[in-house]
Amino acid sequence: MPGMLITYYTRSGNTETMAELVAEGARGVDGIGVEVRSVDMVAPDDLLGFDAIIIGSPVYFGTMAAEIKKLIDDSVVHFTKLDGKVGGAFTSSGGAHGGNETTVLDILKALMVHGMIVKGVSAGAHYGPVAVGAPDDDEAEECRRYGYDVAELTMKLFG
Ligand SMILES: Cc1cc2nc3c(=O)[nH]c(=O)nc-3n(C[C@H](O)[C@H](O)[C@H](O)COP(=O)(O)O)c2cc1C
Repeated sequence: MPGMLITYYTRSGNTETMAELVAEGARGVDGIGVEVRSVDMVAPDDLLGFDAIIIGSPVYFGTMAAEIKKLIDDSVVHFTKLDGKVGGAFTSSGGAHGGNETTVLDILKALMVHGMIVKGVSAGAHYGPVAVGAPDDDEAEECRRYGYDVAELTMKLFG
């Protein structure tokens, strides 16, 4: 069964809420296994076991939290082995112009360095779901739809 990992870092719960919403959307696609794990429960070796990896972070100083960057940096031990997997990202910031898009793109850039396949979004948050603080109703729906779309792509490629 194709598998998706949704991993995140959070201090005050907003990014975790988004992770659960992305998972809810992904579970709407038949045939995919979806796991949600805090980043401290993910070792670089674990990444090998999933066909899709979606990473969520709060915005810290315009980019991802150090805990997320550490997992990415530690994943160099598997450089080239994640090539062809599906990747995605989502973030929560404190302010409307606080760095959500720069942070999503920073995560996506790292996944692309791994050779991963990233799905954009035409109607909606183009680079991946973002929220200001906790997701409001629209942002929550964006998370669900993103999870569904990335899961659907994963099934097309690996199902
Ligand atoms: C160390 C630190 C740095 C932050 N830097 C930014 C920032 O650059 N821009 C911004 O909009 N919010 C910033 N914030 C606010 C968080 O991104 C925001 O509160 C977010 O919703 C927290 O997500 P969480 O509930 O998953 O921890 C920062 C918060 C902390 C603790």
